Amino acid sequence: MRRQVIPALRLSAVMLGALACALILKPQATAAAAPEPHGDAKRGAYIFAAGDCENCHTDKKAKGAFLAGGPPMNTDFGVFFAPNITSDKKNGLGDWSYEEFHRAMREGKGKGGELLYPVFPYPSFTGMTDQDIADLWAYLKTVPAVTQPSKPQKAKAPYGIRPLLTGWRVLYFHQGPLKPAPGLTAEQQRGRYLSEAVVHCQECHSPRNGLGAIEADKAYAGNPKGPDNQDAPNITPTGIGKLTLADLQEMLKTGMTPDGDYLGSGMGEVIEGTSKMTQADRDAIIAYIRTIPAKPSTPKPPKK
Ligand code: HEC
Ligand code: HEC
Repeated sequence: MRRQVIPALRLSAVMLGALACALILKPQATAAAAPEPHGDAKRGAYIFAAGDCENCHTDKKAKGAFLAGGPPMNTDFGVFFAPNITSDKKNGLGDWSYEEFHRAMREGKGKGGELLYPVFPYPSFTGMTDQDIADLWAYLKTVPAVTQPSKPQKAKAPYGIRPLLTGWRVLYFHQGPLKPAPGLTAEQQRGRYLSEAVVHCQECHSPRNGLGAIEADKAYAGNPKGPDNQDAPNITPTGIGKLTLADLQEMLKTGMTPDGDYLGSGMGEVIEGTSKMTQADRDAIIAYIRTIPAKPSTPKPPKK
């Protein structure tokens, strides 16, 4: 009897020790994840439209299914495809936890912790509040599953090696949430949050350095050679100083410019989102954009 009891006791001591270790280690292992706030799918749909997730993640030209994977994005670093983010378990986010989704938005990491390419504008989305991320997640869970594998990224050498992004992140990635800036009114503060963390205006309207990072001091001064040859103009007062409040309101609501033209290219897609925002939120964006100091426009690259 004794000979059997003692090993059993020893075994349970070892198990208890292991359990204690697990309990001690567990909070550390999950420390990065914020507790899941109650997500509201309706509010999530609003942030989803404002963040323009749809146009990158849906190949509309090829009549692809909603959020089942985007069209090729041609950049200096290769051709990238936004993956399937439907609720499909195998190809989409169906198998993801809230913590994993939160980490993708806040830290730019994939399900396995792999570093994501900043063509996914997580350097902007990192600024979102936990509540907005939880609302987005509640909305994405309502998106019907589509069984369509995501296309592999075609990064140019050496960018195919994701761990190389570590260095880029040390230099250029500032993890959020976005902190309020001093000296702004409540409306401008809301506008800054929407512009920088959600609609990510600066991602298109700023020049980038040789490593594809936004040149912070020249933010909003325009980028004549964005992905897919988008030419996003200077939206500091140098570029838009002559536009009235009413002009800007119309542009963000319907895309119509004072000449009666319509804004196109990437901005046309952005306006699909801003057109669905409340007038108060569009006004907040305008109020913030108008606080940005005038900067000289980014020169156009020489014609080849
Ligand atoms: C400018 C295009 C673009 C926009 C806008 C965009 N994404 Fe993405 N997204 C990408 C690309 C490209 C990737 C893949 C990055 C990679 O492979 O490293 C990606 C990856 C992701 C991932 C990780 C998926 C995975 O399988 O690893 C999630 C989650 C995601 N996006 C959600 C969103 C949400 C939510 C929004 C809107 C708030 C959004 N995206 C807006 C381009 C975009
Ligand atoms: C996906 C890239 C992209 C994003 C994000 C984006 N823009 Fe634009 N924007 C453009 C492009 C490209 C144009 C030029 C469109 C054209 O010429 O038809 C443009 C044009 C504009 C114009 C017209 C400027 C003029 O002189 O006529 C304004 C104003 C503007 N954007 C403001 C914003 C604001 C504010 C945000 C964020 C709330 C934003 N944009 C986000 C790409 C973008």
